[in-house]
Amino acid sequence: MTKGEAKILVLGDIVGNAGTSAVEKRLWNLRRENGIDMVIANGENAAEGNGLNRETAERLLDAGVDVITSGNHIWKKSTVHSLLEKNENIIRPANYPGECPGSGYCIFDMNSYKVLVMNLLGTVFMESLDSPFVTADKILSREEGNFDFAIVDFHAEATSEKIALGRYLDGRITALFGTHTHVQTADEQVFGGGTGYITDVGMCGPHDSVLGVKSDIIIRKFLMKMPVHHEEAEGDVSLCGCIFTVSTDSYRTVKTERVRWD
Ligand SMILES: [Fe+2]
Ligand SMILES: [Fe+2]
Repeated sequence: MTKGEAKILVLGDIVGNAGTSAVEKRLWNLRRENGIDMVIANGENAAEGNGLNRETAERLLDAGVDVITSGNHIWKKSTVHSLLEKNENIIRPANYPGECPGSGYCIFDMNSYKVLVMNLLGTVFMESLDSPFVTADKILSREEGNFDFAIVDFHAEATSEKIALGRYLDGRITALFGTHTHVQTADEQVFGGGTGYITDVGMCGPHDSVLGVKSDIIIRKFLMKMPVHHEEAEGDVSLCGCIFTVSTDSYRTVKTERVRWD
């Protein structure tokens, strides 16, 4: 950790065994080479065939991921319920009904600094859940005084909803990054209030594909309009994410850097 600063790496949706294996092979080196203090990764598609299960989650945690966030695909494997209940560093979107298993945020200890990691799901072109705006407000006020940094993974489809939430929380959180579209956007920045932002960090998976799935399967789906069985694509995996350099004095972002490791 450089004096006065820390680096938080966030990784976009890890897709299948290929994405998980690439994280296993490369993350500890990337952490060392880039002086990373903490890693947050979206694991909603990490298990084979989608979702998250115990084996895959353990692989990611062993590989150097500190907190696993998720999204709309988190419920695909039923065993994820006990995983969410038992491991506080694996979270699901906070705006699902309170009766759902697990928590929508956690507070991680990063070299003695408390990092609140929150996961929210968009409501435009997605599930009609509680407002992510109101949910974020409630969590930030409930946990006031209990954290130093706050990082939000906003798993959403609409760019407008993502930018609006980022700007709404500007000055109150350290950074907000988008996930879900699997396509990295080139709008990384630091807002006026010191909140780091990127609309979508992209995916960690095989990019010779349609969002990680074999291209011919998805093309057939669009041509035939019939349900298809998704199969993970093959080929080289790129890891896409973002590094937020944050101040340990102001707890705001100093620099937002988009990364893609091929
Ligand atoms: Fe995804
Ligand atoms: Fe998603």
